[in-house]
Amino acid sequence: MSHILVTGGAGFIGGNFVLNWLSNADADGVINVDKLTYAGNRRTLAPVEGDPRHVFSQTDICDRAALDRLFAAYEPRAVVHFAAESHVDRSIRAPADFIQTNIIGTFTLLEAARTYWNGLDGDAKAAFRFLHVSTDEVFGSLGPTDSRFSETSPYTPNSPYSASKAASDHLVRAYYHTYGLPVLTTNCSNSYGPYHFPEKLIPLMITNALSGKPLPLYGDGRNVRDWLYVEDHCSAIREVLARGRLGETYNVGGGNEKSNLEVVHALCDLLDWLKPKDSGSYRDQITFVKDRPGHDRRYAIDTSKLERELGWKPAKTFETGLCKTVQWYLDNQAWVQDVMSGEYRNWVAKQYAA
Ligand code: NAD
Ligand code: TYD
Repeated sequence: MSHILVTGGAGFIGGNFVLNWLSNADADGVINVDKLTYAGNRRTLAPVEGDPRHVFSQTDICDRAALDRLFAAYEPRAVVHFAAESHVDRSIRAPADFIQTNIIGTFTLLEAARTYWNGLDGDAKAAFRFLHVSTDEVFGSLGPTDSRFSETSPYTPNSPYSASKAASDHLVRAYYHTYGLPVLTTNCSNSYGPYHFPEKLIPLMITNALSGKPLPLYGDGRNVRDWLYVEDHCSAIREVLARGRLGETYNVGGGNEKSNLEVVHALCDLLDWLKPKDSGSYRDQITFVKDRPGHDRRYAIDTSKLERELGWKPAKTFETGLCKTVQWYLDNQAWVQDVMSGEYRNWVAKQYAA
């Protein structure tokens, strides 16, 4: 059986990617390489646990020997690299893990892939792909009237998270130019949807709302993000993997620029409709808290290259995606309770102490 090797496939986007991929009966098998940090959950993968096309390996991408063994055993035709430390607030409090996984881990994976790819011949060597999943945050922060980020926007990362992702993007680029490794990079905006760990804005607000806790908006709540439903992020990755031009980067986004206040209002209104409280609105729980240090003001992404070259477009509007997401959290409280471990509770206590 032909395989792809996915890193970080027990996390939010990687997990959705693996589930979507294997929902196609003709799809290649998946070697799912994940260290299972606090953000990785085997429970997300329950729908494919009995599928012989899914092989899970609890492995750190910094472990070169383990990666070499996986490449040798399964001879993947491609790597799709999601594994990362991904939460900006955690990168501010404790950046070391971000440097380790996002930079050293990506470097280690690139080295293992390069060695493996060098040993391939003929068609297998020509067909191999290394797709690196990155973020729009590498481009820094926009003012209200600035043009959206394009693939040629300068890199100006502002948080330890975005700086570590920027470093990994540069390494991926260098492996193409120096060694000819057939790489592709996607830089995507904020994704949301099922299986999103409840430390990020949308799942945190849903979870807090349902348990009667404050909905903490940083600063004035007017920072703007572009939101993309996770299945649309996954479909963009599949398109770039199948038909992207080698060495190129592709911006991915939803064309949904919203302030955080707008997002939280929309969530409260959906919850008022789908799970009304005995009295009042979920909006009553909104509180403004101390701002995130160095908080990027606005992200907006120009996706015309991806649309023009590969014909990709998101299938979901923000309204339909958000409604599906809220409904998923209401229907999957067992998953939420399972991931809210002691580690999660410690994080919330530290981050929102004041
Ligand atoms: P996530 O934090 O939900 O999941 C990360 C996964 O990587 C977890 O399963 C974790 O266990 C695993 N992991 C962490 N360190 C590892 C290591 N050393 N070795 C092996 N596995 C390790 O993250 P996510 O939101 O799913 O993001 C996935 C990727 O997409 C990241 O590279 C992120 O930078 C990028 N991205 C995320 C967004 C977003 O909105 N979430 C947007 C654009 C790009
Ligand atoms: P987040 O989901 O952490 O994604 P990112 O920082 O990668 O964009 O945050 C999205 C936005 O929501 C960002 O502007 C910070 C803000 N935010 C809050 O206002 N309160 C919160 O408790 C969190 C987690 C985020």
